[in-house]
Amino acid sequence: MSVPLVQLVGIPQRGDTRGGLAVAELGGALPFPARRIYWIHGTQPGVSRGFHAHKRLRQLCVCVAGSVRMSLFDGRREESVILDSSATGLLIGPGLWREMHDFSADCVLMVFADAEYDEADYIRDRDQFIRHVHSS
Ligand code: TYD
Repeated sequence: MSVPLVQLVGIPQRGDTRGGLAVAELGGALPFPARRIYWIHGTQPGVSRGFHAHKRLRQLCVCVAGSVRMSLFDGRREESVILDSSATGLLIGPGLWREMHDFSADCVLMVFADAEYDEADYIRDRDQFIRHVHSS
C-alpha cells in the first residue's frame, strides 16, 4: 500500500461559549518548530497559486477562514483535498509538488514552515521536479 500524499492533522480546539480558539503548538499539531509563519489571503477570483515543490522544507497549512483545494503530486500520484476548517491542518513534506486552487474570496491560508524563506529550496519547474524525484 502506498503512503497517502494527503496527511491531515487535527488542530486542538479550545473554544468555549465566547467563541473559537485553535492551537498549533510544538508536540501537538505542529511536528516541527516553526521558523516562519505566513498567510495567503485576498486571492483574486480564478487565481491558482503554488506550482512549486521544496527540496527540504516542511510545512503545516491551516485554512483559518474560507476554503481552498490543495493538490499534491509526488511525481507519480496526485491527490487533492479541500481545506475548509481551522480544525484540520495539512502537512506537506519535502518532495511534493503543490498547487492551490478554488480559493474562496474570504480564504486565509496560514502556513507554518520549519525554515526561513530560501529561494534555493524551491523547484518551480514541473518537469525539473519530476526529474528531481525520479533521480533521488
Ligand atoms: P510565491 O512562492 O510565488 O507564492 P505562492 O506559491 O503562494 O503563489 O511567493 C510570492 C512572493 O513572495 C515571491 O516573490 C516570494 C515571496 N515570499 C517571501 O519573500 N517569503 C515567503 O516566506 C514566501 C512564502 C514568499
